[in-house]
Amino acid sequence: MATQRKTFPRLFLARSEPFRLVGDRVFLRPPERGDYEDWASLRARSRNFLTPWEPSWPPDALSRTSFRARIARYAEDWRIDQGYNFFIFRHDEALVGGIGLSNIRRGVAETASLGYWTGEPYARQGYMTAALPLVLDFAFERLRLHRVEAACLPTNTPSRALLLHTGFQQEGYARNYLLIDGRWQDHLLFAVLREDWRG
Ligand SMILES: CC(C)(COP(=O)(O)OP(=O)(O)OC[C@H]1O[C@@H](n2cnc3c(N)ncnc32)[C@H](O)[C@@H]1OP(=O)(O)O)[C@@H](O)C(=O)NCCC(=O)NCCS
Repeated sequence: MATQRKTFPRLFLARSEPFRLVGDRVFLRPPERGDYEDWASLRARSRNFLTPWEPSWPPDALSRTSFRARIARYAEDWRIDQGYNFFIFRHDEALVGGIGLSNIRRGVAETASLGYWTGEPYARQGYMTAALPLVLDFAFERLRLHRVEAACLPTNTPSRALLLHTGFQQEGYARNYLLIDGRWQDHLLFAVLREDWRG
């Protein structure tokens, strides 16, 4: 039996207009090939700001070829209900960062992992605070997920503040949880449940 859950990602792919999540300060849409120049320029300017908190960048991290591969992977993830990635734009169309749900687990979990980044020139201006609720609405209302998880380094004060402020609860501490900046590093584990979000 085709459930609503399984069919709607295909509906999004069949759209003629780009899919958008629209808020007061920002809008979100899936990355497109034409975003390459803005994306590469913003990531290059933000390299020192981002790399302590991300998996190590490979030598070709900012190449057009790797961006195209990334876009193709995102589209495939979307198609098979494995992940939903967005770029974040101001209403003047400036690209300010990215946010995404990955590793979607259906069945008895109905859970996704959350990731995000803001370009350094746009950091600490409330853009991720504006973007995250749009993605959580999408996760709980459109994807019908039950739980969204996030993990951050204990030293990542902005990320921790963002999660707590948006309604996540800290649930645990995982040793050597993710390979970040070339090292297995301990992480704080956070989650928000659908019932938390509605409440
Ligand atoms: C974490 C990150 C995405 C936050 O994005 P942002 O657009 O700057 O976030 P906002 O401006 O909406 O601020 C979110 C919260 O962080 C706080 N914050 C932001 N920058 C901060 C800083 N340098 N020091 C302390 N607090 C900071 C804000 O005060 C706000 O907290 P509040 O709601 O309690 O006031 C951004 O700092 C970033 O990309 N960091 C590098 C990559 C990264 O850490 N990714 C996430 C890995 S888990």
